[in-house]
Amino acid sequence: MGCCSGSRSVQVRPLGPPKSESRAPESSPKNLGSQAYRASPLDDQDLGEAADAPRPRALPIVWTLSDQLPRALKSQITDGTIYVEKVLGTGISGTVYLWSDLASSRFYAVKVMPQTKFGTQKQYGYYEYEATRDIDHPLIVKGYGGYKTKKKLVIVTHGVPSIEKSHYGSVTTKDSVLVMDYVPGEELFDIMQGSLSYEDIQSVAAQVLLALEYMHKQGYMYRDLKPENILFYRDAQGRPRIKIIDLGFTRKLIADSLDDRKLVRSDSLVGTSDIAHMGMLETLFQPAVACGYGAEVDFWAYGILLYKLFTRGDSPFSDRIEDFDSLTPFNQLQAMYHEIRRDPHIHFPSDVSIPEVAKDLIRKLLCNGRGRIISWDEVRAHPFFTGSTTLSGVDFEALFHDVQASEASV
Ligand SMILES: Nc1ncnc2c1ncn2[C@@H]1O[C@H](COP(=O)(O)OP(=O)(O)O)[C@@H](O)[C@H]1O
Ligand SMILES: [Mg+2]
Repeated sequence: MGCCSGSRSVQVRPLGPPKSESRAPESSPKNLGSQAYRASPLDDQDLGEAADAPRPRALPIVWTLSDQLPRALKSQITDGTIYVEKVLGTGISGTVYLWSDLASSRFYAVKVMPQTKFGTQKQYGYYEYEATRDIDHPLIVKGYGGYKTKKKLVIVTHGVPSIEKSHYGSVTTKDSVLVMDYVPGEELFDIMQGSLSYEDIQSVAAQVLLALEYMHKQGYMYRDLKPENILFYRDAQGRPRIKIIDLGFTRKLIADSLDDRKLVRSDSLVGTSDIAHMGMLETLFQPAVACGYGAEVDFWAYGILLYKLFTRGDSPFSDRIEDFDSLTPFNQLQAMYHEIRRDPHIHFPSDVSIPEVAKDLIRKLLCNGRGRIISWDEVRAHPFFTGSTTLSGVDFEALFHDVQASEASV
C-alpha cells in the first residue's frame, strides 16, 4: 500500500492558469489562489444538535409562497414545512443537508454553498444547477435546481418552484442552494477500503462508464471523478448500485475545430490534485505547449478510480510523492506534474492481488502519463468487460435495464 493510502483527495478550485488568447476561455470562477477552501455556512452547534436529535427534529424551516412568483406557478404549489434532519457531508463547495419535506413526505439532499470566496452567484453554484437540471440519467443524482433572487431564496422541488423566506434558520440569502434527490448510500471512498469483490468493482466500473458516457454524449465533461463523489448502495437483490453526485465542476464542452480528435477544450485548472490530467497540469506548468484539455480528463480519472478500487484506496502517482497530503494544493499539482513526467509508468502494490485484465485496462487508461483511451466503446470492448478467466463479461444493456428498473421501484 502506498504512503497516502486512504486519505481524502484535495480538491482544487481554479488556479488561474495563464490563458492564451487563441484558446476559447471557459467561463469559470476567477483566480482564487491556491488554498482549498472549506465552507462552513451554517452554525455548527445547531447542526450538531440537529444531526443527533431524535424526532421531532430540531430545525424546522417554514417556507411560504413568494409574492414575486408568477400566478401560474403559485397555483401549483402549497406552503409547507421542511426539516433539517442532519448533515450528509461537507466538501470544498459547501455542506449537504438531509431535508425532509412534510408536505410531500420526501427526503431531499440540499447543498448549501456560501458565496463568500468564489465570486458571484452566477459563477458559483450556477453551473452545478445548470448541469443537474439538464442531466437526466439513473446513475447520476437528479437535481431540481435552486437559486436565489435578491431578497428571497428560491427552492425548486417536484419540478415546480417554491419560495423560502430568507430570514429563517441559518441559511442566508448569500448562500446558493441546490436541491437534489437524497441518495441513501455511502461514499465509495468509505466502501472501497473494505472488501469489494472483483465482481462488485467490475459492476461499479461498468455503471460509472454508463454515467460518464452519457455525460459526454450530452456534451459535458465531469472533471471530478473520485470515490468521494460516488455514492454506493445495494439494491433489493444485493447488487451494487452507484450514483454520481457533485456536478460542481461539470461543464459544457467547447468545440475546438483545430483538434483532429474533435475533443473539446477548456483551460481551467479545477478538480482534485491526485487525478489531475497532464493536459490540465500543462496549462499551469508549461503554458507554452499547453493546448487545454477535454473529455480525456474523465478517462484519466476513470483509470485512477479503477486503480483506487483495486488497491483499496491507493493513488498511482500521488502516493509516490513524499508528504503529498501536507502540501498546498498548488504544490500538490506541481509535484504531480513532475512525478508523472519522471515516471509515467503505473506500478501496482505487490501485497494486493489484482486481476491481470484489470491491470491491463488501468495501464491503457493511464498510459504514457496522458492516457491512450479516449472512447467509451474502446473501454467497453476491453476484456475487463467482455470477459476473461477471472471475470465474466458485462452485458451493458441488461445492466442499464436493471438500474432503470430498480430506480422505478424506489
Ligand atoms: N444527493 C445526495 N444524497 C446523499 N448524500 C449526498 C448527496 N449529495 C452530496 N452528499 C454528501 O455530501 C458530500 C459533499 O457533497 P458534494 O456535492 O460532493 O460537495 P462538494 O462539491 O463540496 O464536494 C458528498 O461527498 C456526500 O457524502
Ligand atoms: Mg464532492
